[in-house]
Amino acid sequence: MSNYALITGSSKGIGMAIAKSLAKRGFDLILVARSENQLRDLKKQFSETYGVKVEIFTTDLSVPGAAHKLEVWCSDNSFPVSVLINNAGYGVWGNFENIVLEEQLNMMQLNMNTVVELTHHMLPTLKKQKQSYILNVASTAAYQALPTFSLYAASKAFVLSFTRGLRFELRKTNISVTCLSPGPADTGFVDRAGLSKLNDVTAKFNMRADSVAEIAIEGMLNNRSEIIPGFTNKISAFASRILPKSILEYAGANIFKK
Ligand SMILES: NC(=O)c1ccc[n+]([C@@H]2O[C@H](COP(=O)([O-])OP(=O)(O)OC[C@H]3O[C@@H](n4cnc5c(N)ncnc54)[C@H](OP(=O)(O)O)[C@@H]3O)[C@@H](O)[C@H]2O)c1
Repeated sequence: MSNYALITGSSKGIGMAIAKSLAKRGFDLILVARSENQLRDLKKQFSETYGVKVEIFTTDLSVPGAAHKLEVWCSDNSFPVSVLINNAGYGVWGNFENIVLEEQLNMMQLNMNTVVELTHHMLPTLKKQKQSYILNVASTAAYQALPTFSLYAASKAFVLSFTRGLRFELRKTNISVTCLSPGPADTGFVDRAGLSKLNDVTAKFNMRADSVAEIAIEGMLNNRSEIIPGFTNKISAFASRILPKSILEYAGANIFKK
């Protein structure tokens, strides 16, 4: 029986590129996002191009309980899920006190709670397969505090720490756990974060979503603990280990200043 890869946030951006990369390798897909039409188009495209089965599940994963509904649907359909990619997420940009609190709580729900809930719900299914993988998508923002992106960076630091801990706990099982920390990529992230006016600044460092996805899937299948795609991003993550935090925060604040 073929194995399924469940990818959250797979209607576009890095999630879509990851889905394509997995389809190329013969994985059947479960695509999850809010945009039903985009998911339908991708289902047609991936099944025709790569000859894999593609299921779609349209939902807003920031609604509490959505992750559980997704797992129940997978269970009811007996999908043998062996790859879980927790990718859906977004950032809100601005000074903490000026951003509507509900928006920030919604981001925390999607970036953190949904990752935890879906992982917990899917573990029994992942354990049943011969070899399984969990890939959680954090960010280079996980490695340092980022003024004007404070809560986003904190949510990704949570993902990184959770992923490393879970990896250790599951090290003697059939489940390999990996954290992906991309830097800027050419996706819808910038627009949703309200960063469009900084496009020129971030575009200089943008990686293509396809390149990020290829590096991510290769690393995941090779049981890597952390993946930071791109030389500049690796340097910036390394710098965060050796430079004083105050300097890093000053530099970050300058790049993302309002
Ligand atoms: N691009 C970057 O520069 C960058 C850098 C570091 C980390 N990341 C991380 O990479 C991940 C993917 O982001 P991206 O850059 O690919 O952004 P993107 O192009 O905006 O894609 C986000 C994906 O998540 C889905 N999504 C968003 N909110 C959702 C919700 N409430 N429920 C279900 N699905 C939802 C979107 O689909 P719908 O809109 O159809 O729901 C879309 O498929 C995120 O976790 C992000 O934090 C991105």
